[in-house]
Amino acid sequence: MKKVFIRTFGCQMNIRDSEFVMGLMLDDGYKRAGSAEDADVILFNSCSVRQHAEDRLFSNISDLKKLKKRKPEIVIGLMGCTAQEHKDNILRKIPLVDLVCGPGNEVDLPRLIKDVVKNRCPIIAADKINELRPEKFPEYREGDFKAFVSIGEGCNNFCSYCIVPYVRGAERSRDAKDIIKEVKDLAARGFKEITLLGQNVNSFKLKTYNLKLTTSNRANDFVRLLEALNKIKGIERIRFMTSHPKDASTELFEAMRDLEKVCEHLHLPLQSGSDRILKLMNRGYNAAHYLKLSESYRKIVHGGSITTDVIVGFPSEREADFKKTVEMMETVRFESAFMFKYSPRPPAKSARLKDDVPADVKQRRLQKILDLQCKISEEYNKSLVGATVEALSDTFHAKEKSLITGRTRTNRITLFDGDKDCIGSLVNVKIGSATPHALKGRRV
Ligand code: 5AD
Ligand code: SF4
Repeated sequence: MKKVFIRTFGCQMNIRDSEFVMGLMLDDGYKRAGSAEDADVILFNSCSVRQHAEDRLFSNISDLKKLKKRKPEIVIGLMGCTAQEHKDNILRKIPLVDLVCGPGNEVDLPRLIKDVVKNRCPIIAADKINELRPEKFPEYREGDFKAFVSIGEGCNNFCSYCIVPYVRGAERSRDAKDIIKEVKDLAARGFKEITLLGQNVNSFKLKTYNLKLTTSNRANDFVRLLEALNKIKGIERIRFMTSHPKDASTELFEAMRDLEKVCEHLHLPLQSGSDRILKLMNRGYNAAHYLKLSESYRKIVHGGSITTDVIVGFPSEREADFKKTVEMMETVRFESAFMFKYSPRPPAKSARLKDDVPADVKQRRLQKILDLQCKISEEYNKSLVGATVEALSDTFHAKEKSLITGRTRTNRITLFDGDKDCIGSLVNVKIGSATPHALKGRRV
C-alpha cells in the first residue's frame, strides 16, 4: 500500500485543507506515512502570507534532494497558497517538484498524482482559484472531538499588504445547508467543538433560499448561521475566525452573548493603531471605530476575550504611527496577539511602496510590542487566579505528562491534573497560578 506524507505551513485554513487532502488520499487507498522518508507521495501545503514562511518552505523542499536521488519514483507536490502564487516559475525554481496544485484544485489531487506517476512528467494545476469546492467531503478528521469547518473561501478586501485575495481568489460562501449538514455529521460522530473558518466570517452570505434558516430577525447572515448551528445537539462549543473590524457589529456581539454554545472569544485583527497607516493598508476603518467596536464588545460580552494581529514596519510607518499602535494595545488590552514585521508580498499593492522602515527599527518595534503584550497577557491571566473556568480537555502536556492541556471558552490555554478518560470532555478548573501564556489549576 502506498503512503502519503503532508507537511503543513500557515493558518488554520491550511491545516483544514491538509486534513481534507489527507482524507481524499486515504479514500483513494493510501496510508499515512510517519515521515517524508517513509512516503511515496510528499505534499507541502504552503503559506505565502509572509516571506519568512516561503523561505522556510523552499529550504524544506530542497532538503529532499538526497531522498529524491535515492528514490526517484517518489512524488513531491506543492499545494496551497505558494503553489498558486508561483505556479508559473516553481518548476524552474525547484526542479525536484513534480506537482504544483493551487487551493482550488486540491480536490483533484488523487487524480493528479496518478497522472504524474503514469506519465512521469510534472503537472501544474492552478486554474480553479475562484471555484467553490464540490460538496464531497472525506470522512477523515485529525481529531475526535474538535473540528475546523470552512464556511467559505477567498477574500474581496484587498488589504494592501495581503496576498490572500490573489492566491485564494474572490470571496465565496458555502451553502448554509451544506455547512449545517457537515456540523450535524460531526456531532453524530461525537465532535464537541467546531471552529468556523473564513478569511472574513462577517461577510458570509446566505443563499436567498436559506434565509429562513432561523426565526430570529437579526439581519446579519453570519449571525443567522450561528443561530442555526447553535441548535445542533451534541455540539457544545462554536468558535469562529477571522472577523474584520469593518464588518463586525453589535449584532454579532449580542449573538455571542445570547447563543450559549458560541464561545466568548473574538479574533479581531487591528493591524495598526495609526489612521494614516490603516488608510494605506486599505483596511476600511480607523482607530476610533476599532476602539468603539472593542468597547461595545467588552460591554456586551461579559468576560469575553479579544485577540488580534498587528503588523509593525509597514512602509512609511514613523515613530508617531507606531506609538499609536502601542497606545491602542494599551487601551484595548488584548488577551493575546500575533505580531509581525511587515514584508512586501507582490502582487499585493503595498509591495509597490518603498519598504523603507529599516530592519533594525522593525525588530525594535516588534520587540517592544511583544514585551508589552506579554505583560498584558500575564496580568490578564493572573486576574483569573482563584476563579473557576470551563476547559475542554485536549491532550497530555508535551513535557509534564501528568498534566492535561485544554482551552477555556475564551481560548486561554489551561493546564490541570487529569487522566486519559477526561480527554475530550468539558471540565471545571480552579485556577491556582498563571503565566503570560497559560493558566494552571486543578479540577473541581
Ligand atoms: N507582512 C506582515 N504581516 C502580514 N500579514 C498579512 N500579510 C502580511 C505582510 N505582508 C499578517 C496580518 C494578518 C495575518 C494573518 O498575517 O496581520 O492578519
Ligand atoms: Fe488579507 Fe485583508 Fe483578506 Fe485578511 S481581510 S485575508 S488581511 S486581504
